[in-house]
Amino acid sequence: MVDVVIGTFFGDEGKGKIIDFLSQNAKVSVRCTGGNNAGHTINVNGKKFAFHLIPSGILNKGTKAIIGNGVVVNPKVLIEELENLKANNIDISNFYISDKAQVIMPYHVAMDELQEDIRENKIGTTKRGIGPSYCDKIDRSGIRIEDLYSKNFESLVRENVKSKNVIFKNYGYKTFNSEEIIKEYKEYAEYLKSYVTDTVSMLHESIEKKEKILCEGAQATLLDIDLGSYPYVTSSNPTIGGICSGSGIGAKYLGEVYGVLKAYSSRVGEGPYITEQNNEIGDTIRELGHEYGTTTKRPRRCGWLDLVALKYSCMVNGLTGLAVNHVDTIGKLDKIKLCVAYNHNGDINMKYSTNAEYIANCSPVYEEFEGNFGDISKIKRREDLPENAKKYLNRIEELVGVPIKFIGTGADREDMIVVE
Ligand code: GDP
Ligand code: IMO
Ligand code: MG
Repeated sequence: MVDVVIGTFFGDEGKGKIIDFLSQNAKVSVRCTGGNNAGHTINVNGKKFAFHLIPSGILNKGTKAIIGNGVVVNPKVLIEELENLKANNIDISNFYISDKAQVIMPYHVAMDELQEDIRENKIGTTKRGIGPSYCDKIDRSGIRIEDLYSKNFESLVRENVKSKNVIFKNYGYKTFNSEEIIKEYKEYAEYLKSYVTDTVSMLHESIEKKEKILCEGAQATLLDIDLGSYPYVTSSNPTIGGICSGSGIGAKYLGEVYGVLKAYSSRVGEGPYITEQNNEIGDTIRELGHEYGTTTKRPRRCGWLDLVALKYSCMVNGLTGLAVNHVDTIGKLDKIKLCVAYNHNGDINMKYSTNAEYIANCSPVYEEFEGNFGDISKIKRREDLPENAKKYLNRIEELVGVPIKFIGTGADREDMIVVE
């Protein structure tokens, strides 16, 4: 009943496009983790939509779009996103937001900035206040959506501002005025009031009615706070566990768990990246794939596809199917390399580790494939793909042991092969 879409690498694998497709058959789509650090792009009839908070399933009329309890929500950004959808004649009457989601406050955004400024080893965060907001959640001083409507709201803000200002003052940063924040956030609360609900109960009502639910993963496995390349990660669990805790849907309800990847790889922000091509090849991939951040517009680091990391992703998420995007893009190269193992001080294996020292002592072992796939955007069956593309995709499947269910052949909504 409940299908899940998860990023398998460092984000930006094209989850939005796969979700958009799958939500055509879903009654409900739900975001479970992260916040507006995410940027999910969907190209519909020549129009480009970039979703940061609202589940991209909202584009399908009739599909309920829910922001789950595990999300951190910047209300200002959310309202802008809702207004933008309205301006594009997208129906938002099916939008809901969890009363338990955490609220990103202005001091979270400023704290993200401050922490990045003073960090010796920068993470390269999106500076959207994600980390500091999750910190407060875990610290139990966070403000939830339902608190915006509670009589305790004002004192919660005052208490938080007081303690945060001590830090801002100490570092010579601008301090915050709690009364201004209270006024601003009460206005947001008023705007959002009609969308706030107990989404856990709502999702379980859908489950009882046997309605199809689609969980929209944000970020990705290697950015997971527990399972990713810590400390170069985001502050939530974008892996399968976060999907359950961030929505209130138990594991027994889950069906397909799709892992999304690109036929190459990319990363924004700092951290180890063993197949990175910090050279002409990487530059070529970046230009061919338009690899610039949806959220921060930063150029993405680009490189070859890493099957050792992909196998790890399959394992920790229990993936049942893969969606391989940008097969058209990689097919524009003459030669393609695929990392099939790591060489760790002479020991060649498929063991992935998030330990930076281990990775620093590994070098990628590549197999080379022929490119030049030609224009594949109109192909609708896997068997009709050019031989070179088939060989490349078959090898991915063979080495990770999870079937490919979707093949991305272009950026548009329709440019996709659904494997029977
Ligand atoms: P997400 O964060 O995982 O949803 O991915 P992003 O939207 O940040 O980045 C993926 C980019 O790749 C977007 O610009 C998509 O329009 C584009 N894209 C997705 N699938 C394909 C594909 O199969 N081919 C091409 N050429 N572009 C794709
Ligand atoms: P989608 O959902 C790519 C990265 C940031 C940084 C690290 C921590 O579009 O795939 P944060 O602001 O979360 O504290 O930053 O995580 N990051 C992403 N990279 N795609 C994303 O989301 C990301 N969300 C966070 O670049 O390296
Ligand atoms: Mg993205």
